[in-house]
Amino acid sequence: MTPHIEAEKEEIAEIVIMPGDPLRAKFITETYLDNYKLVNKVRGMYAYTGYFKNKKVTIMASGMGIPSMGIYSYELFKFYDVKSIIRIGTAGAYTKDLKLYDILLVEESYSDSNYALSQSGDKNNIQLSSKKINDLIIETAKTKHEKIIPSKVYCTDIFYKENDNYEEISKNHNCIACEMESYSLFHNAKILNRNAACLLTISDSLVTKEETSSEERQTSLKSMIEIALETITKL
Ligand code: HPA
Repeated sequence: MTPHIEAEKEEIAEIVIMPGDPLRAKFITETYLDNYKLVNKVRGMYAYTGYFKNKKVTIMASGMGIPSMGIYSYELFKFYDVKSIIRIGTAGAYTKDLKLYDILLVEESYSDSNYALSQSGDKNNIQLSSKKINDLIIETAKTKHEKIIPSKVYCTDIFYKENDNYEEISKNHNCIACEMESYSLFHNAKILNRNAACLLTISDSLVTKEETSSEERQTSLKSMIEIALETITKL
């Protein structure tokens, strides 16, 4: 047990898939897992452990933002000996070439957050995902005939900016989309010698202002969810 997770150690699998939203964790579990059990409900941050094609997996929500992901991924890696976490989230597009529902595989997470610096003295404002998991994700997407786009994204602390300077960030740092959790996840994996990856579905565009409704998101995330689940059978 940790301050934020009440599960027994053996109730958490070595592989965790993390959406941001607890209700999405519930939906994925009920849709895809066999023999599952709710193993955490502290703060409503649901975690379920069950089986996908006989592979043991935990589906747990991360909450929103770098600090929330920072807490849960740290506790999972450090105290529950989790080996791999795959985040599955949504992102805002920074280029007009990206369409709603496109799927990104985050290779590099750029951030102006001080999470890494404060947490461990790490001055890198770019954190990287696991090449090993990324290769498996790419292979899985290929066999499913799903297009995924290897990307560098901006991991922001701020959803509502008074003056959004996304064009500047996109141009100066080569980021094609933004989200809010990958930076602390990748950092924690690095310092604790674990593996992390992140798949994102485009849910809105800062360029065209298009957006998806929350009901639409539930179903449109299906492709990404299935890629993540198939990938873990190979881990
Ligand atoms: N900003 C930050 N994070 C996001 C967005 C956004 O526009 N869309 C999905 N996640």
